[in-house]
Amino acid sequence: MDWITSRKCSAEIAAGMINNGDVLGLSGFTLAGYPKAVPAALAERATRLHEAGQEFKVTVFSGASTGDSCDGALARADAVSLRMPYQSNPNLRKAINSGNIRYIDAHLGKMGYLVRTGVVPAPKVAIIEVSAILPDGRVCLSTSGGNSVCYLDMAEKIILELNTRLGDSCLGMHDNALPELPPHAKPLPIYYAGDRVGDEFVRIDTNKVVAIVEQDRFDEVTPFVEPDEVSKNIGERILDFIRFEEAHGHIPKGLAYQSGVGKVANAVLCAMAEDDRLGQIDLFTEVIQEACLPLLKRGKLGIASGTALTLSETAQKEFVENSAEWKKHFILRQQEVSNSPDVIRRLGVISMNTALEMDIFGNVNSSLVCGSAMMNGIGGSADFARNCALGFFLTPSVAKNGAISSVVPYVSHVDHTEHDTMIFVTEQGLADLRGLPAEERARLIIKNCAHPDFRDELTDVLEFGLKHAKGVHLPLALSRAFEMHNRFLETGKML
Ligand code: COA
Repeated sequence: MDWITSRKCSAEIAAGMINNGDVLGLSGFTLAGYPKAVPAALAERATRLHEAGQEFKVTVFSGASTGDSCDGALARADAVSLRMPYQSNPNLRKAINSGNIRYIDAHLGKMGYLVRTGVVPAPKVAIIEVSAILPDGRVCLSTSGGNSVCYLDMAEKIILELNTRLGDSCLGMHDNALPELPPHAKPLPIYYAGDRVGDEFVRIDTNKVVAIVEQDRFDEVTPFVEPDEVSKNIGERILDFIRFEEAHGHIPKGLAYQSGVGKVANAVLCAMAEDDRLGQIDLFTEVIQEACLPLLKRGKLGIASGTALTLSETAQKEFVENSAEWKKHFILRQQEVSNSPDVIRRLGVISMNTALEMDIFGNVNSSLVCGSAMMNGIGGSADFARNCALGFFLTPSVAKNGAISSVVPYVSHVDHTEHDTMIFVTEQGLADLRGLPAEERARLIIKNCAHPDFRDELTDVLEFGLKHAKGVHLPLALSRAFEMHNRFLETGKML
């Protein structure tokens, strides 16, 4: 019997090969290309073991967020002791915020490096979704690159989930390479978003493969929602500003774009598709999300380089049918490459990420509500924000029907510091913070980005700081830094 046939088994049998306390390295990035059958079977096994009074928990490393049959099922079964580096599942989020699951929210571009250098433990078992397995020991990954090459290489045992639903749609789409490790690492020769530097397949050690499980499920991605008026408004402001910057020679034409997760980032891509003045664009991003499809269909997408192709089920079906044509535009890389600071800096990427809140001095919080309750995580936003040529942080000026101002005196948690952020945009307007000292940044953000309901209070906090802060270089009076947050916690409203 050949090695592939001899390893084929059910998800239940494969899940039985995982032990309490194991570190798992999963494929998957922003709901694309994650294993679906084995984690669900593992969750059922954990539930049975718990009912029998036995302990069973595993550590889960991934590329980024995975779908409900993976992160959701494992969280509901109380089968996870530690999760890293990103998630977006409501059940998992609840368990993290109640203290049931320990969570390390890490830069997505750095996760593989931490594993490869032994800073965090190598996975005992890699569970990787693939779209093809070749007899000579090469595999083709599915809808995401993530950290799969690293986990396949570093893990003691490998479980492959062969997704038969994808057919040959993913063949030729991947470019698998990892950056060399220091010292004296040579740069990755990516000079255009479309440059390929690796191999379309991953060669694995077949001796490590303990199970191959077939499944035929699409990624569980929520249907695409058309942008609302607020998001459209933000998208148009960004495009106008980029045109202004190009016209004034501040940036060259033709820079590649990164677009983060969230509805506002989607809206920018939709606005790009509809804007007749905009020619063809390239993306050098992490998530090639559904909002890229209008660009593709209108002939405005050159190359979209990312680490995940995150599409709703309807769009996945469309992809499988049209993959021969669509694949000419897509390249999926490992996340250490899609999020490589070196490549992002050299390409001069224009980066757009969504903030939960931003403060009047230029700091951004992307991850923690009121400084303590985890939403999703920092994701790859900082990999791009710090190294891009032009970086936008976007958010509606208010959340929860106006109860919360997204512009605050001081962010309740800092993901992106005032030293890294460049341009803030809300539906109220845009603030270009580059080259401005703190007080001028604050006045501009209040005037251009804050909702009118909150401008007086924000100005009052600034004036108070100018009179009472220890120094005026950054005029923040600590006593008033979290006044609005505290009011929200006490009354449900920041006003
Ligand atoms: N305080 C409290 N809650 C806030 C808030 C604030 N300042 N701003 C937004 N929210 C709430 C919204 O009300 C909404 O709540 P709901 O789910 O109960 O309706 C929730 O946060 C999500 O906000 P929404 O406006 O629907 O945003 P989104 O889907 O566009 O996501 C982020 C916004 C910030 C959560 C998302 O972009 C993210 O996780 N970013 C960090 C990671 C990242 O940037 N990755 C980029 C590359 S991977």
